[in-house]
Amino acid sequence: MNRPIPSRTVAPFPTTRLRRTRSSAALRDLVRENSLGVNDLIWPVFVVEGDDVEQEVASMPGVTRKSIDRLVEAAHEAADLGIPAICLFPYTDPALKSEACEEAWNPDNLSNRAIRAIKQAVPDIAIMTDIALDPYNANGHDGIVQDGEILNDETNVALVRMALAQAEAGADILGPSDMMDGRIGAIRSAIEGADHRNLTIMSYTAKYASAYYGPFRDAVGASGALKGDKKTYQMDPANTDEAMRLVERDLMEGADMIMVKPGLPYLDICRRVKTEFGVPTFAYQVSGEYAMQEAAAANGWLDGDKVMAESLMAFKRAGCDGILTYYAPRMAKMLSEA
Ligand code: PBG
Repeated sequence: MNRPIPSRTVAPFPTTRLRRTRSSAALRDLVRENSLGVNDLIWPVFVVEGDDVEQEVASMPGVTRKSIDRLVEAAHEAADLGIPAICLFPYTDPALKSEACEEAWNPDNLSNRAIRAIKQAVPDIAIMTDIALDPYNANGHDGIVQDGEILNDETNVALVRMALAQAEAGADILGPSDMMDGRIGAIRSAIEGADHRNLTIMSYTAKYASAYYGPFRDAVGASGALKGDKKTYQMDPANTDEAMRLVERDLMEGADMIMVKPGLPYLDICRRVKTEFGVPTFAYQVSGEYAMQEAAAANGWLDGDKVMAESLMAFKRAGCDGILTYYAPRMAKMLSEA
């Protein structure tokens, strides 16, 4: 993958005809360099309060917020399809949002109740969480805000509490998505201290200040609350070297897996992470990417299934070990039918 091609492997035409190995499906199958399997998929899901509730997310056609009972059913189906992990995002009642964000580490908050319910009913699927204050913050930011400033170290204290509550609830993969400095180390030492030795951390290491998150903020009910932008903590889309420094930093602090986010517009970052560090590398095909493809498909401008499969293969080609994608169950079905 991405090795320089020694010139001797390319004899002049007609000795070399690169179309030969493309001439039949069997030959194409034989020489295919990358593959996408159900094991590569992590399914992000939205959970909402209530019983037997399922709400459409207008900007993400085909995606719903589900009450815990419905989510447990969905987790069952995902596990049956062979999807290894789901990632929970709560839609928080605005009445529970505050400046101090205490609901984030309430052991009985919606997200922690969902973790327990899924763990009990579907023990084989790994549960990934989101660690950031935005679903619980009255101002929609990922960190504690004071006088207009997003406070780093004070936020880390809150994130550690949040991580410990998720660990106690039974999470398998913690996903710090907040981009505060030092949070991976703080979380790692707290969970080691609490004897959660096998609890993994997938750090949202290279998370860019992106306009592609819009539909997600609708899904979790954070768009209304958000004041300003996230540019003082999320990365500048112009930067690459800085992402490599963040990867090195997060690995040193105890991250087990690295994530790049958004996905397709940042495949160069995925490739560099994999090539330079050789660590488990993931990408998040975010809400805006999903919305764009689905909008075009709904208009009949693109073939939705084909674009889904092609977009997910692109991540594998770029060196990713897996992809967080709203397409996970649909792609898994397509793979099982193939
Ligand atoms: C929040 C968070 C965001 C996403 C995942 N966790 C949004 C943000 O940073 O504003 C985006 C996911 C998506 O767009 O699909 N900490």
